[in-house]
Amino acid sequence: MSTPPTILVFDSGLGGLTVLREIVRARPDAHFVYVADDAFFPYGHHTEDEIIARVVPLVGELIRAHAPDLVVIACNTASTLVMSHLRDAYPLPFVGTVPAIKPACASSKTRRVSVLGTRGTVKREYTRKLISDFAQGCEVTLVGSGELASLAEAALSGQSVRDEDIAAELAPCFVGNGASDPARTDTVVLACTHYPLLLERLRRLAPWTVDWIDPAPAIARRVADLLGPVGTETDEAGAEMIFTSKRPHALSAALTPFFGGRVPA
Ligand code: DGL
Repeated sequence: MSTPPTILVFDSGLGGLTVLREIVRARPDAHFVYVADDAFFPYGHHTEDEIIARVVPLVGELIRAHAPDLVVIACNTASTLVMSHLRDAYPLPFVGTVPAIKPACASSKTRRVSVLGTRGTVKREYTRKLISDFAQGCEVTLVGSGELASLAEAALSGQSVRDEDIAAELAPCFVGNGASDPARTDTVVLACTHYPLLLERLRRLAPWTVDWIDPAPAIARRVADLLGPVGTETDEAGAEMIFTSKRPHALSAALTPFFGGRVPA
């Protein structure tokens, strides 16, 4: 392990920044390389074989180029498929992001939970298995969204995104006859790292109050545990942001808060 460590955070786009933000809080000393595979975005629209064939060699190239101490796959659509392939191929610690079904079902009072993810994530065998293992008697509704990740990217890039378009993606999560129905949905799992980018609007547009489960803090704790105690040296090189499309960063001002105030090179 190098001191300070290098952590590579990978997503199909800007959603993984919601995971990065928590890891930066947990390990402010680390050097961060954030990779957005925007040339292949959105992953939710690709087949399982296409995602495995894309992500496994690409992460290999990134490991060779940046020599990270740990890699975070900050994407549910990829993590629900590629983690075992990555661990078999490369000898370093990997942390994935998968739908937080277990804590959501453990905390739901009405015993009705929705999982909001990409169409790919909600179809996965991995996700179905999490439900059969951890639903703990809850009714779990799977909601595959075709557009929400792209709407989140647009909003973060400063484009205007209509409330109606977000509300339409959200509506199937809310099962029940309103806020007083004792059997209504009371917990929604944010099973795509893009969605916390829209959290304030999700709260505002929800037909009734629910708990929104974002696994990012738990992922950051896992990363911190794997890296061990924080060293005394802080990274001087700041942070790097890479878009696989090689587009220039027009987004720096919007991005710096996710990097703990550093301006990504
Ligand atoms: N951020 C990704 C996830 O967590 C998905 C967005 C996409 O479709 O590329 O699933």
